[in-house]
Amino acid sequence: MKNQINWNSLGFSYIKTDWRYISYYKNNKWDDGKLIEDNKLYISEGSTALHYAQQCFEGLKAYRCRDGSINLFRPDQNAIRMQRSCSRLLMPKINCKKFIEACKQIVIANEHYIPPYGTRGALYLRPYIIGVGDNIGIRSAPEFIFSVFCVPVGSYFKSGLTPTNFIVSEYDRAATNGTGAFKVGGNYANSLLPGEKAKISNFGDCIYLDPKTHTKIEEVGSANFFAINYDNCFVTPKSPSILPSITKYSLLYIAKERLHLKVEECDIYINKLNYYKEAGACGTAAVITPIGGIKTGNIFHIFYSETEVGPITKRLYKELCGIQYGDIEAPKDWIIKVK
Ligand SMILES: Cc1ncc(COP(=O)(O)O)c(C=O)c1O
Repeated sequence: MKNQINWNSLGFSYIKTDWRYISYYKNNKWDDGKLIEDNKLYISEGSTALHYAQQCFEGLKAYRCRDGSINLFRPDQNAIRMQRSCSRLLMPKINCKKFIEACKQIVIANEHYIPPYGTRGALYLRPYIIGVGDNIGIRSAPEFIFSVFCVPVGSYFKSGLTPTNFIVSEYDRAATNGTGAFKVGGNYANSLLPGEKAKISNFGDCIYLDPKTHTKIEEVGSANFFAINYDNCFVTPKSPSILPSITKYSLLYIAKERLHLKVEECDIYINKLNYYKEAGACGTAAVITPIGGIKTGNIFHIFYSETEVGPITKRLYKELCGIQYGDIEAPKDWIIKVK
């Protein structure tokens, strides 16, 4: 399979790679975990993951550098976020060391699937924990599985670093005090229909507003939102129902410390889009996807351009990717070398 991969036309689709890591939680403890070749799980029909969405997951990437070495970008942050998801859904946690070790093992075992330096692709790692074992009532599972598999990926949105248009959804992604801030499957099952409707209407995905007032931007599909206002301030929404994006917090740092912009986490009102000269979606998969325009009701608001990328978005993208692929010095502890 790896011989047939066209690195330059990779999108974001499942490709079976050779090895995955798996660890079982039984009798109140995790086992040591191991690498296996089988990509199928054999689990009880009563597994809580199947009926009650007792599961959480993560997404991070391994990058091939110019010198042939391999970078993981802030995997400790994914490990910590997964621990928070576990707490919220009453699942046993994986400690940071075991999480990072599993990621490293998967990258090394599937090294030949890492897209070459210069293709802008990466090896996407998908860690997850699911509740399994015989059960029927609504309660936490008796057993759990932690696994990590990987897939070589290119651009998440078809267009890559070209502006994409989005449409405001009439649906809510998550409740105000619900699970929106956790990376748990239920949020994503809920987003399938709104996402599909947006794509049928030729938009990249939908924009979710805050569930309480429907006046403020929360998320862009499965990415966080940011914008640059006319005061050259990098702004991004603050809300208890947004997933705390590792990319977004990295961009807040880069904008402030490297681009010397002002930064602010604040309310971004959907009827005040003309305050912003550039906007984008950010995330591990989306990287930075410039937002051309947003449709809200009968209005279509264009930011910088529907075809050109704004200058600050370009600089943020260059700095972020430069750090991830090892071309630009990373802030302390952001990069873990796999080899
Ligand atoms: C709903 C949602 N928002 C934002 C993000 C971006 O988060 P990160 O930058 O940590 O990948 C993701 C992807 O993980 C997501 O699923």
